Amino acid sequence: MTMTMQAAIYEQYGKPEVLRLSTVSKPQAGRGELLVRVHTTAATIADSRLRRADPFAARFVFGLFRPKNRILGDAFSGVVEAVGEGVQQFRVGDAVFGICGMKMGAYAEYVCVPATGVIIHKPAEISDETAAAAQFGGATALHFLQKANVQPGQKVLIYGASGSVGSAAVQIARYMGAHVTAVCSAANTERVRALGADRVLDYAREQFWAEGPQYDVVFETVNKVAVGHCFKALKPGGKFIIGAGLLKEMLQGAWASLWSGKKVIAGVALGSVEKLEFLKKMLLEGAFTPLIDRVLPLSDIVAAHHLIDSGRKSGNVVVRVKQ
Ligand SMILES: NC(=O)c1ccc[n+]([C@@H]2O[C@H](COP(=O)([O-])OP(=O)(O)OC[C@H]3O[C@@H](n4cnc5c(N)ncnc54)[C@H](OP(=O)(O)O)[C@@H]3O)[C@@H](O)[C@H]2O)c1
Repeated sequence: MTMTMQAAIYEQYGKPEVLRLSTVSKPQAGRGELLVRVHTTAATIADSRLRRADPFAARFVFGLFRPKNRILGDAFSGVVEAVGEGVQQFRVGDAVFGICGMKMGAYAEYVCVPATGVIIHKPAEISDETAAAAQFGGATALHFLQKANVQPGQKVLIYGASGSVGSAAVQIARYMGAHVTAVCSAANTERVRALGADRVLDYAREQFWAEGPQYDVVFETVNKVAVGHCFKALKPGGKFIIGAGLLKEMLQGAWASLWSGKKVIAGVALGSVEKLEFLKKMLLEGAFTPLIDRVLPLSDIVAAHHLIDSGRKSGNVVVRVKQ
């Protein structure tokens, strides 16, 4: 049995070029753990932020001078290669998908994850590409739309509808029965309409806030439009989701909420088994088709990160680890 594997590693913070393929030790499944043979992963903006140590404070958790964990990659889809002692829920050969969490590690041929972590069985009808692409944007969008308690018939506006989070949010809000207005660039209009948006606005030509207060929920997924504009578009009692905002936007949102009575939803979206099961159901029903910009091999990880850093990817970048 080989004790090494190929992985994309980074040993310093910086540009995409800090990532390189290397031969590293293959992890071993400890008690309660699964060793997963990774077929696909996704390169996300979260990976890019860690790679750049952005914000700087991330260094206090992930390594002050250099990254403590050398392998990025949160979401994975693959097959259980080995099970540790005490594991009941999974067997060798099971197709699975899930997320690694803070320790990351999916930019590699194998990853160890707790069997009680965020991992579920993958039916054959769901491809490895789809399973890898569904999780980052899907779980984030689901987290915030559930927090907003979106109800059938409500009017929801998704700003940044062509991104990973936005493209999932359009489909999940529709699934929840909302009337969805999606805002994206002209280049992505048809793509976003195909996801099921009832109305698509081009942000370069149309100012959604100029139409007055008409939305129950405004979900800003890319931190590109002023908080005040979002509040203008909300009905009395409406909810503003700050999906990507920083401290400034949170403070502006809290202030605007004080005098308007409109609510602000913010915070960190964490993955969970329940969220993955929800997304799996949507995938199987054909209600969720993750938007995939590109599928690249692990050897093209630097190109994958350049695409993320461009801020212009449509949906998700899938990385194929097993050829
Ligand atoms: N709170 C949390 O827990 C949490 C969790 C996950 C992600 N996030 C945050 O969510 C944000 C979005 O992540 P993501 O992966 O969805 O981003 P992404 O896919 O990288 O976003 C790229 C998209 O943004 C669109 N875009 C660029 N400029 C725009 C503008 N001025 N107006 C509207 N759209 C614009 C681009 O479309 P065009 O090229 O067509 O303009 C592109 O499709 C990130 O900031 C991430 O940190 C937060």
